[in-house]
Amino acid sequence: MTIYLNGEYMPIAEAKISVLDRGFIFGDGVYEVIPVYSRKAFRLAEHLRRLQYSLDGIRLQNPHSESEWTNIINELIARNPGEDQYLYLHITRGVAKRDHAFPNPPVRPTVFMMSNPLSTPPAALLQSGVSAVTAQDNRWLRCDIKAISLLPNVLLRQMAVDAGCTETILIRDNAFMTEGAASNIFVVKNGKLLAPPKDNLMLPGITYDVVLEIAAANNIPHEVRKIAVAEVFAADELLLTSSTKEVLAITQLDGKPVGTGKPGAMFARLHKLYQEYKQKVMRA
Ligand code: PDD
Repeated sequence: MTIYLNGEYMPIAEAKISVLDRGFIFGDGVYEVIPVYSRKAFRLAEHLRRLQYSLDGIRLQNPHSESEWTNIINELIARNPGEDQYLYLHITRGVAKRDHAFPNPPVRPTVFMMSNPLSTPPAALLQSGVSAVTAQDNRWLRCDIKAISLLPNVLLRQMAVDAGCTETILIRDNAFMTEGAASNIFVVKNGKLLAPPKDNLMLPGITYDVVLEIAAANNIPHEVRKIAVAEVFAADELLLTSSTKEVLAITQLDGKPVGTGKPGAMFARLHKLYQEYKQKVMRA
């Protein structure tokens, strides 16, 4: 496996960073996860735009132009095996003496990128759906930044694993649903797809955008608005989206079936349309 670190490509075993890196010390950095299909980065412009938004959010200058990023990404894809990969891109505020405040003058940011094989959910999982638990969303108020400081997400997702489940659905202020610990969540009720609004309390998912675009293009009734916790528990269907999981049905919530307990019609339709969209834009 070949990785990219600060301008060089190397085997992962040779990659070294300083223990004083602010990513290591403070979790002071941002990241992206970009799926690659047929050796082409999916929605690259959108991922790079979100990366810029995250960098602006933490007041870190973008170390590369869009064309430089594109070159690095394409080179890394070429140097790794497999038609389908997923890229992990990570930028920290660099190496400096430990002090919470930004290094002054600024130091060179650390840029790390790796590629892993992308395995989208297997057929059995698409047919059964996955289970989830709910938990209070106890993260900070800038969940729109794709920050590497993921300790709350780590603890929240472990709650799902401890319960033998796949994901944790997050409830803010005992009132409304925000997203999953590592995914976006949609509710389906009476044939309508409901999505929470992109605000500071959730990550603006690239897959979330694709699903809403597909819904709009195919006259699927949909609405973007706050989703009350009661609506999550009364849902006909629940869907989970992310770059690595694409679209999955959640068929059990807190040990009880969601709707019929089987992936529903909306899931079947959106999953099919998502695959068709991918095929159209990536494999053509
Ligand atoms: N996570 N919300 C959170 C908190 C996430 O961590 C993710 C993705 C998403 C979905 O975003 P997208 O559709 O752009 O992947 C929503 C990635 C996959 C990860 O951390 O591995």
